[in-house]
Amino acid sequence: MGDWTHKHLLDLQDVSREDIELVLDTARSFREVSEREVKKVPALRGRTVAMLFAEPSTRTRVSFELAAKRLSADTLSIQAAASSLTKGETILDTALNIQAMNVDLVVVRHQASGVPQMLAAGTKMAVVNAGDGCRAHPTQALLDMFTIREKLGRLDNVKVAIIGDILHSRVARSNIAGLTKMGAKVTVCGPSTLLPIGIEEMGVEAVYDINRALKDADVVMALRMQKERQQQSFLPSVAEYVREFCVTADRLKKARPGALVMHPGPTNRGIEIAAEVADGPQSVILEQVTNGIAIRMAVLYLLLGRKV
Ligand code: NCD
Repeated sequence: MGDWTHKHLLDLQDVSREDIELVLDTARSFREVSEREVKKVPALRGRTVAMLFAEPSTRTRVSFELAAKRLSADTLSIQAAASSLTKGETILDTALNIQAMNVDLVVVRHQASGVPQMLAAGTKMAVVNAGDGCRAHPTQALLDMFTIREKLGRLDNVKVAIIGDILHSRVARSNIAGLTKMGAKVTVCGPSTLLPIGIEEMGVEAVYDINRALKDADVVMALRMQKERQQQSFLPSVAEYVREFCVTADRLKKARPGALVMHPGPTNRGIEIAAEVADGPQSVILEQVTNGIAIRMAVLYLLLGRKV
């Protein structure tokens, strides 16, 4: 294995192609642990991992928690709504209190962009970003890249169409950063109000016509309308969005035969993706979830395990 030198995982912008490959290869070696009857290896025995989630989450929090447990780490989970954050304590103070209990690594999700960076600068713990505002969600992009690589055998020159609310999506931003670094060709597509101005500077093609975006795509990734992050009305109506951008079985025919259908979840069936597509033979949505554990095991192991 190559050398992993990062103390934190905050954003894929700072991670090299070689290091992304190292995470993907490490994840591969961890994947079978979850298929065993006894789903545990001792790699992080005696280490403590805290989940600090200030935003709703099902998949990501549970995935990190299972990943840490399957590596034998001790885990604790703090959810904002049930913590002293509701009593006016700042997130940095909360983190410093977790640190005072000798926690080694904190996995943080927050609605404000930059909170993971702030905790990395303000505490001694290793920090993993589990989603900050609209900015980054690196482990989601890593598990998406892992899934594509496992299914198609490569990332280089794979054509990926990302459809939906790109403006508010940290999943889109992290995938763009990672996929372009790995040589994939990314097209983003959505209503003009939800495609950030200047997104092409991230090395992607931006189109408003879903048929154009889907044409010959190897991977179709649908994204949820992030209503909780939308501060104004970006769409005339949901019905209008569905008519123009919903990934339907009919539209999917424009993509390469057998193209992978992906979604980071939570899905809103019938809005960004038709139920028959989400449940259809091309969908790898639940495989993404399975692979998420292996990716998070790899990340936790690379950040903590090799220093024991
Ligand atoms: C995403 C998130 O929270 O960024 N979900 C996830 O982590 N799998 C996407 C979303 O909220 O739509």
